[in-house]
Amino acid sequence: MTRLTPITFEDTDIDQIASFEGRIAVLVDPEGRLSAGARRVNKLTRGALQRLVESEKFQAVKPGQSMVMSYPTGLAAEAVDVIALPKSADQSHMRKAGASLAKTRGTADVLLLAAGQRRISELGYGVAMRDYAFEDHKSKPKAAQGGVRIMCSKPQEAQAASVRLMAIAEGAHMTRDLTNAPANILTTTHFAERLAEMENLGLKVEVLDEEELAKLGMCTLLCVGQGSDSPSKVVVMRWEGGKKDAAPLALVGKGVVFDTGGISLKPAAGMEDMTMDMGGAGVVAGVMRALALRKAEANVVGLVGLVENMPSSNAVRPGDVITSMKGDTVEVINTDAEGRLVLCDVMWYAQERFKPAAMIDLATLTGAIIIGLGHENAGVFSNDDALCDAFLKAAKTEGEGAWRMPLGQAYDDLLKSRIADMKNIGGRPAGSVTAAQFLQRFVQDGVPWIHLDIAGVASVKGETALAPKGATGWGVASLNRLITNMFEPS
Ligand code: BES
Ligand code: MN
Ligand code: ZN
Repeated sequence: MTRLTPITFEDTDIDQIASFEGRIAVLVDPEGRLSAGARRVNKLTRGALQRLVESEKFQAVKPGQSMVMSYPTGLAAEAVDVIALPKSADQSHMRKAGASLAKTRGTADVLLLAAGQRRISELGYGVAMRDYAFEDHKSKPKAAQGGVRIMCSKPQEAQAASVRLMAIAEGAHMTRDLTNAPANILTTTHFAERLAEMENLGLKVEVLDEEELAKLGMCTLLCVGQGSDSPSKVVVMRWEGGKKDAAPLALVGKGVVFDTGGISLKPAAGMEDMTMDMGGAGVVAGVMRALALRKAEANVVGLVGLVENMPSSNAVRPGDVITSMKGDTVEVINTDAEGRLVLCDVMWYAQERFKPAAMIDLATLTGAIIIGLGHENAGVFSNDDALCDAFLKAAKTEGEGAWRMPLGQAYDDLLKSRIADMKNIGGRPAGSVTAAQFLQRFVQDGVPWIHLDIAGVASVKGETALAPKGATGWGVASLNRLITNMFEPS
């Protein structure tokens, strides 16, 4: 498990500046006066900081970005990072400042002179989110990252605000660790074990094996995994921090640990990316971790369907007809449209067992959503405007891209099958919408529901605002915020 950067808040003591040996970071409002800490740095460096701040170059530095003063005279520090940050900086600028600090510092210890800057814990969150590297399989991992000490005006307040944010960051790190993990390591069994470990945090975790799933009638889920030697599993995680009788929010995740496409085999090029096809389940795990760490006052149940989609003589074939737990029959036209077959049974089970107040599923479901929205936005499908708007608002606040997509009868009609209740694909047009329509057939009347197609955002080739290349952890912060806003007492 990737370790979270230790971030601590303390009162300002300018007498520690001269001898600090890591990197010193100062926040400077390009319009404002230097803080006491910054003035001390300026004095020790014989005016170098003032010259930098007054330079034309620094005036062009965007909020949250920095300029570096290397090996400065008068300081033991290896560098001073001068971060441009208006006094009025908003949450997103604060986080960006943290992320850019995390990037420039490498592994050095940091002493940040934050003075009276508001929302300073948000900067810490940016550091913690960006300080991530997946090095489980590097034989020579980089040195561990040093700590970040933040000298500020109200350290206790900042520390208190930080608890919740660090819970989210740790949840997102878990999501990234799972999503980045290769499929020979993160088998269905290993995945289930990683989730079961969260019992330490106070979650109730159950692992349902193939025998139990068969008894429940989850044949569409089971048919996806039947070509793999790795056993299919459903893991149920419960966080009961709310009122005893309050119906829970259900989170359901697609956990295809590897998607070859099955008998409808995918092309070789890029197939290695399908190690991230459990990204939906990864987000569910990360949210549950965050809720437990911050002891959320809400009832939330997370369910993930863990399977591997492999071709074999036992694998499900195109043309096979399978009966879902709901009882509806599905003609499997393409074995590569497997995610919906997994989700429909887990969603049905979640509703039958938990009678949830609302249900949100997450899945790296379709390549078509990447064609539509690229890597900037997840596709959001919903049968409930109030829930959907609340989610979109939460996502906007967290800076995680999310864009609503349509649903409708005409799309649903594309799933008609000659021999069964439905086909598992609707053809090339509107591929993400027909996938969502398929799922909606398994949403019970009156259950507010959101489907998040995260195929484009779960893992990306370039770095993003708060994450290096690879798995992003998209969704953990937004769902956590939605839960705070809608399911916890204010
Ligand atoms: N896991 C894939 C979708 C995917 C594609 C995720 C690219 C991440 C990046 C999914 O199981 C799949 O194969 N979908 C098919 C559906 C088609 C057969 C109707 C697709 O998108 O091509
Ligand atoms: Mn597939
Ligand atoms: Zn898939």
